[in-house]
Amino acid sequence: MKRLTHAALALGGLIATACASVSSESAPAPASTAPEWRLVIHGGAGVILPGSMTPEMEAAYITALNVSLEAGAAVLRAGGSALDAVEAAVLTMEDDALFNAGHGAVFTASGTHELDASIMDGRDRNAGAVAGVMRVKNPVLAARAVMEKSEHVMFAAEGADAFAQAQGLEMVENAYFDTDRRREALERVLQERARTAADRHGTVGAIALDRGGNLAAATTTGGMTAKAAGRVGDAPLIGAATYAENGVCAVSATGHGEYFIRVGVAKTICDRVKLAGEDVKTAAGAALDEVAALGGDGGVIVLSGEGDYGFVFNAAGMYRGWIDASGSGTAIYGEDDAE
Ligand code: GLY
Repeated sequence: MKRLTHAALALGGLIATACASVSSESAPAPASTAPEWRLVIHGGAGVILPGSMTPEMEAAYITALNVSLEAGAAVLRAGGSALDAVEAAVLTMEDDALFNAGHGAVFTASGTHELDASIMDGRDRNAGAVAGVMRVKNPVLAARAVMEKSEHVMFAAEGADAFAQAQGLEMVENAYFDTDRRREALERVLQERARTAADRHGTVGAIALDRGGNLAAATTTGGMTAKAAGRVGDAPLIGAATYAENGVCAVSATGHGEYFIRVGVAKTICDRVKLAGEDVKTAAGAALDEVAALGGDGGVIVLSGEGDYGFVFNAAGMYRGWIDASGSGTAIYGEDDAE
């Protein structure tokens, strides 16, 4: 059984490292004042080790994380909603080939792309999701349309694309999502049948607290390299990868989706905060312990109703960042401080 090997925990812009299990014991004390607004993002977790990419690639990821942070922060600074902020933040990552979401999504075993996304508004726990879409350019916009323009929470496959098209969203050929890097990853996985986490998964997500005290969360992904056609991961499932409830917490997850579904990671975290009174990092650590006990890996970003936030992951690294009125920070590797 795979065990947790590393966890990085952050609060108030500071980061602490704990080995062997997810724990908040070594994390710094919580920030004493609540932020006016705050945005936290991730761009996927996995076998992301120092030396595993060129300095140019590292710089490109940091730049892309900052573009996402700025897109969401612009909304929040202007008094916009947490919902608009998380949408804006993940949109830039869906459009950036670096991330496994939108353009740059991984390939299925059949050589196509099937994308999943979800979004949730903490004000009323309204939510929307799409699974297995192949033609809508930005799955997060389709998820939001499901939430706001239908009486349902989730649409799948052709029906989801048809719904998105009927809502006037931009549609593309499936090949729009192709990138050489992801095709090479597919060929590697198919040839070697060596399914490393780095090759196989990656997801992007954002959580935000706005000036009105509202929370929101969004998660979007291409899924896992060489996944079977029709496979749906955790990203479109409210309660698995995405959850937001005002005054409680917001969560977006990345990792091996089957394990996150089985644990119900995002809802587990929020329930521990709401019912057991745990802080968001402790709750996230406990949920990831459950994922690890089943053999899964990945990570979460968490934000409390008061704005305390955390990056908690049991993979080697996670693309991540935060921004608020006091500053911002980004990091990639496990040991890095997101400042
Ligand atoms: N977490 C992304 C997936 O498993 O599809």
